[in-house]
Amino acid sequence: INYQTARFEASYGTVAQLPEPATPEVAVTGRSNVGKSSLLNRVFSRKDLVKVSSTPGKTANINFFSVDGIRFVDLPGYGFAKVSKAEKRRWADLISGYFDQERSFNLVIALVDIRHEAQQLDLDMIGFLQQSELPFVVALTKADKIGRSKQNQQVATLTRQLGVEREQVVVTSSATGEGIDGLRRRIAAACL
Ligand code: GTP
Ligand code: MG
Repeated sequence: INYQTARFEASYGTVAQLPEPATPEVAVTGRSNVGKSSLLNRVFSRKDLVKVSSTPGKTANINFFSVDGIRFVDLPGYGFAKVSKAEKRRWADLISGYFDQERSFNLVIALVDIRHEAQQLDLDMIGFLQQSELPFVVALTKADKIGRSKQNQQVATLTRQLGVEREQVVVTSSATGEGIDGLRRRIAAACL
């Protein structure tokens, strides 16, 4: 996959606007502020193709990126408390509406912050992916924020809490690039 070809395709505020899945798709999902947009930038080796913010709720639409014939989908984050009920509803509708469509889900990258316990919404998302039998990996994010032994501890804890296999989990950092090559290998395996 030639990531140098990465370009922004389009932004959609409603599910009805989404174009037909013409190509393999890789989607990223996870709580607000977990690092979805940062991870995509790192996978693309681009500094700011995907807009990042320290304020949660930055990605409020479904954004499509096109990379060497593969479509990457940056979804809005879930679980962000500080938006209106109506906006929360709209984001939830975007996320569930996306997954309810008949699309080519080659890989879903489910992001979970490595520092915390699994949250209910994370359990809901992983449970949904398992039930729907969608191919997914769990990317534990922000690994640079804790030391190696704490990382190993959290990998064990989160693997158990989320009910996934160790092989489905990749430890990542968008700050240092840790785990990004591993993630790229999984993307290639799922799409090529
Ligand atoms: P929403 O679009 O609001 O759902 O957020 P997001 O999941 O796209 O998160 P985003 O990539 O915008 O990152 C949120 C904040 O976390 C930003 O301040 C990033 O710089 C920071 N961040 C993301 N990934 C990492 C990481 O691996 N390490 C560190 N230290 N900070 C990170
Ligand atoms: Mg984002």
